[in-house]
Amino acid sequence: MGLIATIGKKEKKEIPSLDELIVMGNYKTMRNILITGGAGFIGSHVVRLFCRTYPDYRIYNLDKLTYAGNLENLKDVAAECPNYRFIKGDICDLDHMRRIFGEYGIDGVIHLAAESHVDRSIRDPFAFAQTNVLGTLSLLQAAREAWADDMEGKLFYHVSTDEVYGSLHEPGTFFVETTSYDPQSPYSASKASSDHFVRAFGNTYGLPVVVSNCSNNYGPNQFPEKLIPLFINNIRHGKPLPVYGTGENVRDWLYVIDHARAIDTIFHRGRVGETYNIGGFNEWRNIDLIRVMIRTADRLLGNPEGHSDGLITYVQDRAGHDLRYAIDSTKLHEELGWEPSLQFEEGIEKTIRWYLDNQEWLDNITSGAYERYYAEMYGNK
Ligand code: NAD
Ligand code: TYD
Repeated sequence: MGLIATIGKKEKKEIPSLDELIVMGNYKTMRNILITGGAGFIGSHVVRLFCRTYPDYRIYNLDKLTYAGNLENLKDVAAECPNYRFIKGDICDLDHMRRIFGEYGIDGVIHLAAESHVDRSIRDPFAFAQTNVLGTLSLLQAAREAWADDMEGKLFYHVSTDEVYGSLHEPGTFFVETTSYDPQSPYSASKASSDHFVRAFGNTYGLPVVVSNCSNNYGPNQFPEKLIPLFINNIRHGKPLPVYGTGENVRDWLYVIDHARAIDTIFHRGRVGETYNIGGFNEWRNIDLIRVMIRTADRLLGNPEGHSDGLITYVQDRAGHDLRYAIDSTKLHEELGWEPSLQFEEGIEKTIRWYLDNQEWLDNITSGAYERYYAEMYGNK
């Protein structure tokens, strides 16, 4: 038998090794993989992991290059990996999706493309329904048509969020895979809707689907509108840190590369039709997390302790701000042996270091230079 897994004080459990899984027929071997949203934050880490780990796969990164898509995130992969190919496209364009499935013989999909920021969804919910719901639907339809004659060995993996479960109020409670959906923001409502379509295609048309719901990610290459990169950038520039409401909202943070590893695990070894929650049992009140970020960033910048404390600025709360998210990922651990590789203290220091060492990446984004560059190179379609 393979490794013995332990999680917290839970019982030890035997997990089959990779060789055993292949013999048992549980290890899927798709070859032409379409990764949508690969130029974004999480997608770029998934693309890198797959291109490097599976040189015999062909990895097609389909991305519309919205404000959140940035090919800079993948310049190492584009230079080093002959199995990587970028396709500019919109998941809402059904004909284009059909052509991609036909032309490249796609047999596996990892679907990450989405509008992903709650604040933007409050300002423009239609964009979220368009991309997250209708875009997912057109991708499902293209997969269904392409695989109609033979679903064997195919997989449509939909990457979703814990936000579909709503907000936790009772201390000590967690989201499990059977928790009822109760989305509270236009973003989470659109992701919940896309999850339902994915499962409906599994149930109605026999499309082989799998869904995962992950907690908040942090790490390199996250667009600086989200809490952690925004605040690191503001600390660097001595700008105010806008804390919504009282700062007591709780999020469960996972290092992005651990999410990518979980996606790899589920893609290859997850059971078709199942849902897996992904999280690292790592809850933080926003204000506590912000204080850790300030302390670490000040140390790395050579500032005296407490230097940036005064940047904390309490501002009006986000409309409908969910109080607490917390994921129970026991199923993923016990069934497939995944667990996070990084402790939070290590992950957050690595992350802050990355943003401080990659100021040009941040500056390009905040100046809009990269958007102009790609508009010229690929056109605006
Ligand atoms: P992101 O906003 O950084 O990246 C999204 C990517 O999708 C961008 O590259 C963008 O150009 C692309 N895209 C947007 N609309 C598109 C369209 N119509 N056609 C093709 N490409 C399009 O998002 P992220 O944080 O990397 O999240 C990726 C996925 O993971 C999303 O589905 C999100 O819901 C989910 N998720 C995110 C988190 C998190 O903490 N960031 C946590 C759990 C799940
Ligand atoms: P965010 O990174 O937007 O992720 P999500 O809303 O999907 O959890 O926000 C994380 C938490 O930080 C959330 O509780 C909202 C809060 N927040 C602030 O307090 N100030 C900010 O400027 C931002 C962007 C977020």
